[in-house]
Amino acid sequence: MQKNQKIYPPLNHIPADILCAQDYERLASSFIPLDRLAYISGGSGDETTLVENCRSFSEFSIIPRSLKDVSKGHTGLNIMGKDFVHPVLLAPVAHQALVHPEAERATAYAAEATDSCMIASTLSSFTLEDIAGNSSHRNWFQIYFQPNDEDTLSLMKRAINAGYHCIVLTVDASIQVPSVRALQAKFSFPEHVKAANIIHQTVQEKPNLQSGQSHIFQHYMQTAATRERVKKLIEASDIPVVVKGVMSEDDAMEYCALGAAGIIVSNHGGRTLDGVPSSLSVLSKIRRAVGTDYPLLFDSGIRSGRDVFKAIALGADAVLIGRLQIYALSVAGALGVAHMVKLLREELELCMAMTGCSSIDEIKKTKLHKKMEKL
Ligand code: FNR
Repeated sequence: MQKNQKIYPPLNHIPADILCAQDYERLASSFIPLDRLAYISGGSGDETTLVENCRSFSEFSIIPRSLKDVSKGHTGLNIMGKDFVHPVLLAPVAHQALVHPEAERATAYAAEATDSCMIASTLSSFTLEDIAGNSSHRNWFQIYFQPNDEDTLSLMKRAINAGYHCIVLTVDASIQVPSVRALQAKFSFPEHVKAANIIHQTVQEKPNLQSGQSHIFQHYMQTAATRERVKKLIEASDIPVVVKGVMSEDDAMEYCALGAAGIIVSNHGGRTLDGVPSSLSVLSKIRRAVGTDYPLLFDSGIRSGRDVFKAIALGADAVLIGRLQIYALSVAGALGVAHMVKLLREELELCMAMTGCSSIDEIKKTKLHKKMEKL
């Protein structure tokens, strides 16, 4: 951390100069120490995917339409049989105690106050039961495959017993590729930041590899998704299982065939394999592959309500917000996250009203203009 960086404690009011959701990103560097900020905001490798995620939204502009009566407009929708007041979900983000002492509890309060669905991470700083106790039972729980299959199933059963509505199975991060930015900033987890849900699990020993074996194939990939593992988890669950981290039509179709209740198109915010396409650029293709009625969510790169509008126009039913959520948490705790969601929703409503959309399902690709490629 730079010695001269002044870090403020979280505020208990909304700063006057927050005028749009993305302003929380600008303010976060006054509330998060630089090494932690590098871990949170950084991406893997050269960060080409991280940059592309945000840039690809600028390939589309929004076509305004007048003469439409939107006086009955609303952002409500139904996902997998449940009503949602708006399409903005809080993505699973690990280790929220890095930025706020109330961590996921505060995020759960914010979700409650804004009628949002929070997706609590396996790697939360508070237990999934504690987080569920701080919210209504609208929330979802995210699972990473654990080294031991019984531990994975036990996490899922705990989530079901705690009242979560849906399991989000993340399949794109078996290997947590270190971010160069975080390494350069010498980031390491402070002593007090623990993964409360799995703290008592046996840690996977580093195997004694034989000569010629690889840490990638023979170690890390041992906890990767396989058809058998995914099928077993889906069959054992009484609640819908949605798969997060899908970037190709083929994977989407396979997960669909394995019984996934939905798919989240995501490249983990550019934090896994660098060099993969932006999530936005593959969204329409995946929507075409799974059909119009299959639940399809989206994340990676959303920084405004205009981005939410564009993702929905290109095929998403709803979207997840990752980093913006954490920036807002660092600035003003639950109040900040709630305010950030409110701003995103208002920004989305503005786009809907100005393009003649009274409801989410009227947001179609025809509302967008694809900019010409530069020659
Ligand atoms: C994440 N993400 C993530 N995803 C997941 O499935 N489980 C997790 O525990 C985490 N943890 C996590 C930590 C941090 C610091 C970040 C920034 C992200 C990924 C997250 O859910 C989401 O896919 C991306 O953050 C979306 O991209 P944007 O909105 O950050 O651009």
